[in-house]
Amino acid sequence: MAGAGTMGSGIALACAMANFRVILFDVNAEMLLKAGAEVHKNLSYLLNKEKITIQNFEQVSQSIRYVNEVQQCKADLVIEAIVEKIEVKQELLSALAQINSPACILASNTSSLSISVLQEKIADPQRVAGLHFFNPAQVMKLVEVVEGNETSKEVIQQLLDFCRQINKVPVHCKDAPGFIVNRVARHFYLRSLQLAENGAATPGDIDAAMEAAGFKMGPFKLMDLIGMDINYAVSESLYQAFHGAERFTPSVLQKQKLLLGELGRKTGKGFYDYSSTSTTQS
Ligand SMILES: NC(=O)c1ccc[n+]([C@@H]2O[C@H](COP(=O)([O-])OP(=O)(O)OC[C@H]3O[C@@H](n4cnc5c(N)ncnc54)[C@H](O)[C@@H]3O)[C@@H](O)[C@H]2O)c1
Repeated sequence: MAGAGTMGSGIALACAMANFRVILFDVNAEMLLKAGAEVHKNLSYLLNKEKITIQNFEQVSQSIRYVNEVQQCKADLVIEAIVEKIEVKQELLSALAQINSPACILASNTSSLSISVLQEKIADPQRVAGLHFFNPAQVMKLVEVVEGNETSKEVIQQLLDFCRQINKVPVHCKDAPGFIVNRVARHFYLRSLQLAENGAATPGDIDAAMEAAGFKMGPFKLMDLIGMDINYAVSESLYQAFHGAERFTPSVLQKQKLLLGELGRKTGKGFYDYSSTSTTQS
């Protein structure tokens, strides 16, 4: 697992809970410590709820190894969940391709970047695919298995099987901007941001309305959970992919949050304030 942030720590836990041995790699040692604490917190919650035994707790904890050198990132499958920037991902995937055997599958958890473009610069591009988990990855069942132009059918099949082994529900799709969920859900975020920008309703009221209408989580709470940087990058990516189509225009309000460093839960503040025990609208 490359990248130990919000998604990397959750995916590592999902795999470890299904009895896989996991190497969790990040360039930032602080993020590795944070990921370890997150894994511990999630396992403690399950233990307290009597969903797992103390033996499970220990076995899962011990099956994740935390490393901060890319050379230690050797496996049959590497899932990349680092920053949503194509050049940075390509550079890391190329390094991983060199370190690992040609049979090693390289999967990207990208939310919106093109798998076909990502695989262009990687040796043996047929082993590169998208494996798009949802947040929180240890809980959410869906995984989009994305086939790039060069991805082999065997690799797709192996990834579908792998997802089932870690108790997920895989859905196969071809490489298309935003894949399935981020394409459809983009309007959930963008139209809500537009309403708030126009002063028609507050983020809190929009969330309340959407939740009462049947959505599990309102758009602003969800953007805070995802992270403003990630969610904004997906909007930009779709905007570019659709040649500046007005309906995908990224939000000024969200960009302001981004510039203020108010990224959501991970920084303690986004559309809501998470610094105290009770959550308030910021
Ligand atoms: N946050 C979400 O809800 C969500 C959902 C699905 C997919 N994704 C995708 O998952 C990926 C990661 O998102 P996240 O929310 O976990 O981000 P994050 O900011 O929480 O974590 C990213 C991690 O990558 C590390 N990193 C950066 N460059 C690196 C490198 N070159 N080598 C190793 N580690 C490096 C950072 O130190 C950080 O720990 C992105 O591609 C994002 O689009 C995010």
